[in-house]
Order: sequence, then C-alpha cells, then structure tokens
Amino acid sequence: MPLTGTGDVVAAARAAGHGVAAFNVIQLEHAQAIVAGAEAAGSPVVLQISENAVRYHGALAPVGLAVLAAARAANVPVAVHLDHATSAELVDEAVELGFGSVMFDASATEYEKNVRATADVVARCHAAGVWVEAELGEVGGKDGVHAPGARTDPAEAAAFVAATGVDALAVAVGSSHAMTTRDARLDFGLIAALHAAVPVPLVLHGSSGVADRDLARAVEAGMTKINMATHLNRVFTNAVRRALADDGNLVDTRRYLGAGRLAVGTEVTRLIAVLRAA
Ligand code: G3H
Ligand code: ZN
Repeated sequence: MPLTGTGDVVAAARAAGHGVAAFNVIQLEHAQAIVAGAEAAGSPVVLQISENAVRYHGALAPVGLAVLAAARAANVPVAVHLDHATSAELVDEAVELGFGSVMFDASATEYEKNVRATADVVARCHAAGVWVEAELGEVGGKDGVHAPGARTDPAEAAAFVAATGVDALAVAVGSSHAMTTRDARLDFGLIAALHAAVPVPLVLHGSSGVADRDLARAVEAGMTKINMATHLNRVFTNAVRRALADDGNLVDTRRYLGAGRLAVGTEVTRLIAVLRAA
C-alpha cells in the first residue's frame, strides 16, 4: 500500500462520516505501533511529527525518513504529517523529504499576521502538492501559553479559510493539550456551528483529554481529524513501567520498549474503532 496523502485519508473519512486518527510519533516504536494498530483495524491512519519532537531529535530527517519508511511498508493507507510547525523553514524541509501534509501553526500571532503567514505557506505547499492544516483560536493548555477557555469563532473561521486557502482547520472547542485525565468538556454546539460555517475538514487537537464517548460525539458533530499524543505516551510509559517493575534485572531495551510498543498498538486499534463507530 503506498504512502497516502493526508488529504486523501481525511477526505475519505469525511465522506464516510468517520473520524480519522492522527497519532504523534516521537520514537520509532510509536510509528511501528501505530501502523500495526491501524493494520489490525484495517483502517487508514495519520502519523504525525511535531516541531517539538523534531527539537527533541535535533533534526527532522532521521525521524522523518524512518516514519516515511514505516508508512510505505504498511498494508493500509498511512499518511505522514508535520504537526504544529511554527517555522516556515521546517515546513519546506518536510515538503522536501516527502511529507504529504503539514500543520502551520501561527495561532499565537494576531489574526492578520496569522492570515498572511499561513497564506504564504499554503501557496508554497500547494505548488508542491502538499495539504495544509492551520489553526485559529488557540487550543488551550499548551506550554501555559494558551488560555484553557479559548474558542474559535465560526464567522472568523470561515473568513480565515477563505483568506488563506487552507485545506483543514484546527479549532478551539474546549479541549486542551497534554491532559492526562480524559474529562475535557467539549462544546458540541460550537463544533456543529463550525462544521456548518467552514467548508474544510475540522481538526480536534488535545484529544487525549477527551473520553471515548465524547470523541465519537465530536465526530458526529463535525470533527474529522482527531489528533492524539499524550494518551498514547501514557499507555506506552505504563507498559514500560510494568515491564521494568516485573524484572529488576532487565537491561535489554527491546524487552521494555517492545512492551510499550505492543500496548500502544492495541490501544490504537481500539481508538480507531471508537472514531469509526461515530
Ligand atoms: O497536535 C497534537 C495534539 O493536539 C495532541 O494533543 O497530546 O493532548 O493528545 P494531546
Ligand atoms: Zn495539537
């Protein structure tokens, strides 16, 4: 199965009324687990690498090329996406490496500046056939910068999409990045209003804090791309912790990272079913 564009994966999910999971990759084991979980579900998936993860690795290419290779070897459609890029140079690098999509995040800047910077990135990406997600209205909680009560205005969102030409829009509807409890309260009425006002697919960020039933409800109300990172890291780390606790003499990294990888794969399969049940 070839590496598939995020635009194709998202469009197919939207047409079917499903949500598509976009899971963040930090280590190679994440990519392997997410692909295995999607294969077990028989469903497409998006692998995404954030600018923060690039910073952790020191460069995009080593982790990016490994993730592209994992996607190319999958037996279900797998897309590779650059997540939360604030640097236009990093966007250009991802396009050069063969990523099918990017999220350009200028949401911390004021509206007119966000429009100009995003439109510029869209023009360059579209010339290369790359799909672009942008953000309007900060998704609460990240690094203490965003207000937890942030909300995206539907009329402003429609104007932003028209002015920039973006292919998908991340909106603030009550979720918050990096939650370790799944009790965020989404504004389903706002999701429906945004869905009615905005002609492109909507993206839910900070989905780790959202309970299963509310993820399904968010898809029903109009969300399509469901971004999740922290929850899978929690599953991974809990499995590693158990493996290390079970055997105090364990030194082979494959033994405990493999346990994390297995647990994440199982959870990915389960979450994909939640998003498709909507
Ligand atoms: O862009 C990635 C996500 O919004 C992940 O957020 O770690 O809260 O699931 P999360
Ligand atoms: Zn996010």
